[in-house]
Amino acid sequence: SSDTGYETIQVRTEGRVGIIQLDRPKALNALNSQLCREVVQAAAAFDADENIGAIILTGSDKAFAAGADIKEMASKDFAQVYAEDLFGLWDRFAATRIPVIAAVSGHALGGGCELAMMCDIILAADNASFGQPEIKLGLIPGMGGSQRLTRAIGKSKAMEMVLTGRTMKAEEAERSGLVARVVPLAELQQTALEMATAIASMSRPVAMLAKEVVDAAYESSLAEGVRLERRLNFACFALEDRREGMAAFVEKREADFTHR
Ligand code: HXC
Repeated sequence: SSDTGYETIQVRTEGRVGIIQLDRPKALNALNSQLCREVVQAAAAFDADENIGAIILTGSDKAFAAGADIKEMASKDFAQVYAEDLFGLWDRFAATRIPVIAAVSGHALGGGCELAMMCDIILAADNASFGQPEIKLGLIPGMGGSQRLTRAIGKSKAMEMVLTGRTMKAEEAERSGLVARVVPLAELQQTALEMATAIASMSRPVAMLAKEVVDAAYESSLAEGVRLERRLNFACFALEDRREGMAAFVEKREADFTHR
């Protein structure tokens, strides 16, 4: 199925997977405010839909997204960006509770790299490139890049990228831990769909709990994180799907989760 109510994105579903495709080809999917509103709305709708268990966010072969829309930003002053909290709305996308896979081909620069890093897993095509070139515009990252890139690839490498604006290709991004896997461009969408379908076939609440505990590793001490994990592990025992998953193992059959 597909929804044509959007102008800067295309939205469709494949089974239990929701797909959001950035679609401003003439601007290499630059992230303007309309695109931000539409992505946030589409992700929130999938998040609220019990029939959707995972989201794929993708762009075109040439560009995942070439950054925040420089033409839209160029004339703004401090008072404006502060008053409108420029880029603040993206925090709602980052707060999506079901798993989100970024399927990245082509340029993922500036806000595009930051948007990919808001997702839970980055799957990259072999033509993908990642970078935070804001410094060349007299700017620093503003959608979490300085924080998420540093956590993903470490201080020295993040510093180098943020201070020089150098981009890294897919192979280096995988070696550095930024992306989960690199696949040939022709296989990107199929691989992303297989991964998302596998996730969406799991218990929906359990996948959400799993995402929550991995994310907690960024926000807490080891002891606090382990404690939260243990508590949420116990919480799984209250779910129908946990009963079904273990029963299926014992009975040597595939689990048939009801996502409750
Ligand atoms: C607006 C953009 C754009 C952007 C590309 N375009 N990137 N428009 N904002 N970020 C537009 C171009 O102006 C051009 O339109 C069209 O897309 C095609 O781009 P070209 O440059 O002709 O393509 P190419 O020669 O293939 O080069 C690709 C590129 C280059 C290397 C990706 O476009 C580029 O360097 N883009 C900017 C990358 C960048 O600096 N991103 C960070 C933005 S700052 P026209 O109509 O002119 O032909 C940012 C900040 C985040 O993201 C938060 C900060 C607070």
